[in-house]
Amino acid sequence: MMGLVKKDGIAELVRKSAQQARRDTPPLDKPERVTKLDWPLQCTVGPGLEGAIACESGVGYVNGTAGRLLYRGYDIYDLCASSNYEEVCYLLLYGKLPTRKQYDGFCQRMIQYRHVPNTLRMLMATPVEEINPMAALRLGTNFMRRRLTWRDTETGRPLASTAIASDEDSIPMETIPRGEQHAIYEFAKKAERRRAAKKVQDDAASIDSCIHVISGIATLAAAIARLREDKLPIEPDPELGHSANFLYMMTGRRPTAEEVRIMDVSLILHADHGMPASTFAALVVASTLSDIYFSVGAAIAALNGPLHGGANEAVIDLLESIGGPAAVPAWFANARKNKEKIVGFGHRVYKTYDPRARILGPLAKHLGAGNPAIATLYETALALEQEVVSTLGQEKGIYPNVDFYSGLVYRSMGIPKEMFTPIFAVSRAAGWTARIIEYLKNNRIFRPRALYTGEYDKKYVSLGHRK
Ligand code: SDX
Repeated sequence: MMGLVKKDGIAELVRKSAQQARRDTPPLDKPERVTKLDWPLQCTVGPGLEGAIACESGVGYVNGTAGRLLYRGYDIYDLCASSNYEEVCYLLLYGKLPTRKQYDGFCQRMIQYRHVPNTLRMLMATPVEEINPMAALRLGTNFMRRRLTWRDTETGRPLASTAIASDEDSIPMETIPRGEQHAIYEFAKKAERRRAAKKVQDDAASIDSCIHVISGIATLAAAIARLREDKLPIEPDPELGHSANFLYMMTGRRPTAEEVRIMDVSLILHADHGMPASTFAALVVASTLSDIYFSVGAAIAALNGPLHGGANEAVIDLLESIGGPAAVPAWFANARKNKEKIVGFGHRVYKTYDPRARILGPLAKHLGAGNPAIATLYETALALEQEVVSTLGQEKGIYPNVDFYSGLVYRSMGIPKEMFTPIFAVSRAAGWTARIIEYLKNNRIFRPRALYTGEYDKKYVSLGHRK
């Protein structure tokens, strides 16, 4: 069973990156500790809600000028060096690091929830190999919802569990073929029904649903990868930790200890990141009191857009098309002339190095040491990074973001490019669900405004009189 790997080469690599980062960037001045915000707030808002404050949160903190990322106050460098993905999920969901007993109990629930056979059976009824893997992942996440939740009861659709049959006809199945309209449902008393609904509602927006999604989505992603290669999904192995099991179910072989650590570090790095479009989409859906499964499905849909997810796949294509480090200067000069946006660079918040790139870059270099193809791609990437940082970095704060090196890391582990963004979703399920649970504690349905710039008092002209 996994333990927390304390000393290893990857931890040293992460610690070295942290030292470099602290040398390069100003110390993190503590954000003004706000205990409670006095709503309504004044803030300057740009298109796409740029600058808008949507809510308060203690889950994670992104500092774009210092290039720092904290989860519940812990620096990701420390978490990548010393923790693992299960422990980070616990931290994001519960707001504190677990005791040994809490950690073991959480891991047991993660192992229990990674078995999603009925969901896989439904997913495999669709031609998964023919559809976008993110579409398949979103579909699978919604199939996980399988149980009816309180929303279904509210829409009047009877929950068999709360119907009390008043005679044999009303047993929710056809005894005498006289059809549903003859069945007589006598529901549990309102209070009982409310209690039953509350329980089911809690189920659908509870920490257990979060753990169910965090664990099950990894099984779904691994199964999608296998089905896309015309192979059958692999049963989860209860003896493996989350990252090891994910790699095992995706590749069909037990990963090396180093591969497990590297996948763990990557899942930790992608687990949460403030309020990007996918997290915001999850909160908007959750704020309508829909449920965790629909909300994570909405987040997956948002992450599918190339401005948000998928950039790491495009980076691999870009590096391969450039062809090698010697070709970078000419390529970059041309891109600059055409004012092209270079994939894997730039960020709405970071105007310095994305701290996640500071760890994924050295990881890619480390993995290139034993793999000439990766080494060439890494050298090309490094040359491009130097060109961009020395120009656009100084001029506009354009630096490598999380996607610039993550694809190289996954490619070196033999993971197909189409699975890079699903892996991002597998990891970010932790941050999405942690923020949903936090927001629902003081829920308010999202309903921003659109400023009307249209016309007024138009006179209706019938069709026959229109020119
Ligand atoms: C993620 O927000 C998050 O937290 C997201 C994320 C997460 O963990 O959830 O960090 C994950 O989404 C990473 C981003 C992956 N996407 C890419 O790598 C695609 C390439 N990046 C760009 O599309 C862009 O940088 C964005 C979308 C990431 C951010 O764009 P913004 O903040 O809307 O910036 P902008 O388009 O307003 O550009 C500002 C200026 C422009 O120049 P001017 O018109 O002012 O002269 O910066 C330039 C842009 O042209 N610019 C770039 C650039 N990104 C912005 N120039 C060259 N290359 C780029 N990549």
